Amino acid sequence: MIVLRNVWKWYDDDTVALRGVTLTVPRDDFVFLVGPNGAGKTTLLRLLNRAETPSDGCILVSGQDVQDLDEQEVSRFRQRIGVVFQDTRLFADKTVYENVAVSLQVSGDGRASELVWDALEVVQLADHAERFPRELSGGEAQRAAIARAIVRQPQLLLADEPTANLPPAMAWQVLQVLTDIHYYHGVTTLIATHDREVVDRMRRRVVELAHGYIVRDQRGGRFAA
Ligand SMILES: Nc1ncnc2c1ncn2[C@@H]1O[C@H](COP(=O)(O)OP(=O)(O)O)[C@@H](O)[C@H]1O
Ligand SMILES: [Mg+2]
Repeated sequence: MIVLRNVWKWYDDDTVALRGVTLTVPRDDFVFLVGPNGAGKTTLLRLLNRAETPSDGCILVSGQDVQDLDEQEVSRFRQRIGVVFQDTRLFADKTVYENVAVSLQVSGDGRASELVWDALEVVQLADHAERFPRELSGGEAQRAAIARAIVRQPQLLLADEPTANLPPAMAWQVLQVLTDIHYYHGVTTLIATHDREVVDRMRRRVVELAHGYIVRDQRGGRFAA
């Protein structure tokens, strides 16, 4: 699904975010990206979503070299990827339903409403569809953001610190939703996280970054080696 070959990313001469990263993520894998602040986790996810391009090296997603995409192809490429951010980025003036529906951007598609309800069911928010973001708990808001990310049924789901700022019980619910999506829908999933408890409990593949290098890649790993 994802191949990175000797990928470098520098923002300017002084800031090198990734230094020769090589990584393979097969279809259906579930990966935690860990490492201290500034290690390069967000940069790696942004490269996979083609929000950034590599300074050197090669990135293939579903066999496609992300560097080669023109503008039109980039937008089509992004439609197959779901992205979840720490700060949910829900529209405050839209309901949960509307927030999920906007990412479909299909006018007159008879399936649109069905897809939105399906996504809301998956994150267990169907009964909160008419609420506004301010009427949700932190965990519910993050689950709404996840519903928005999966409504187009992406093959790849990227989550950047999705449980930061959440109390442990809510963080755990969010992770349950992400693992359900991975398990039942076969979505390749990468999650950057500082959440030691979640990583230690799940015992999945852990890729650890430090100073832009991969320093550990371990199946069934813990947060710390
Ligand atoms: N848009 C940017 N412009 C300049 N430097 C950046 C930018 N984004 C990230 N960096 C730098 O790249 C390095 C890696 O950052 P990041 O990928 O955000 O790491 P992490 O998500 O692990 O905290 C840091 O030194 C950070 O300051
Ligand atoms: Mg980050």
